[in-house]
Amino acid sequence: MTLKILQFGTTGQLAVELLRQAPDHDVVLTALSRADVDLADPAAAALKVADARPDLVVIAAAYTAVDLAETERDLARTVNTLAPGAIAEACAATGTALLNISTDYVFDGAGGAPYAEDAATHPLNVYGATKLEGERAVTAACPRSLNIRTSWVVSAHGKNFVKTMLRVAAAGNPLKVVDDQVGRPTSAADLAGFILSQAGRLAAAKVGDPAFGTVHFANAGEVSWRGFAQAIFAEALGDQAPDVGATTTADYVTPAQRPLRATMDLGKLRQVFGVTPRPWRAALKDIVAELKAQ
Ligand SMILES: NC(=O)c1ccc[n+]([C@@H]2O[C@H](COP(=O)([O-])OP(=O)(O)OC[C@H]3O[C@@H](n4cnc5c(N)ncnc54)[C@H](OP(=O)(O)O)[C@@H]3O)[C@@H](O)[C@H]2O)c1
Repeated sequence: MTLKILQFGTTGQLAVELLRQAPDHDVVLTALSRADVDLADPAAAALKVADARPDLVVIAAAYTAVDLAETERDLARTVNTLAPGAIAEACAATGTALLNISTDYVFDGAGGAPYAEDAATHPLNVYGATKLEGERAVTAACPRSLNIRTSWVVSAHGKNFVKTMLRVAAAGNPLKVVDDQVGRPTSAADLAGFILSQAGRLAAAKVGDPAFGTVHFANAGEVSWRGFAQAIFAEALGDQAPDVGATTTADYVTPAQRPLRATMDLGKLRQVFGVTPRPWRAALKDIVAELKAQ
């Protein structure tokens, strides 16, 4: 039976990949843009679920401006905590399964990586705190919900580190990139593929199914931002790759504090979903190829 999916978000990296890949699956995906419903109005978002009566809701939109969130605390909380909470209540009331996306920034990265799903959380910034509260609101309101934590999301579109690095390199300025923050880059396309491959299972699963709760999804392997920049240039520019100097978190001051090593463990993904993501370098190759083809 064709699955009805209601997606919040049309323009973000993940939202675009879900829309792109949906035709390869037995789903009808209806995606709502910010113009259709602003997540700053959680009650309006909840009404969309009641109206559409889908089999599965996917929250692919979020307040993702990590530094700006330090000053736009209320808006970040409304979009990342209250809206998912209201959507979750509507899902529970209509018997709809819910998939929410969260972040590795729920961890402080100060020790203990790779973090398992049940490891102690301690967000260092407002964005991470609002996403963690969003996870909790979703889980509390909707027993048939899954929070997928992901990290360092990149793709050939939208705003992300791959595109920023290539733009900076094209400008020809000397480059220094933070070398003491380490994590797992994640292809938005790979995450979208995982979500669509599990949509049927989630829509059919009963309360208490191990598919519900929280799971980590990221590409395999670990790298620093500087190492990632070097890989991006090697992949995109080959012999013309610029030198990438090293800087430190202490020297590169940003409004939001970021974890040094919030790398997430991927064991549960393998055990519960039977999925082992490919290495980030292979995913990067595909993204650079797509950028070159554009
Ligand atoms: N990007 C990362 O590195 C990263 C890392 C870890 C976790 N995540 C999580 O992964 C998920 C997907 O992230 P992404 O990288 O695809 O995000 P993104 O590219 O930054 O896009 C964010 C999306 O949210 C929408 N949005 C923001 N505020 C909204 C509002 N008030 N009402 C309706 N829509 C709103 C934006 O719409 P407009 O185009 O209208 O602004 C945009 O479509 C998010 O939950 C994010 O927290 C991302």
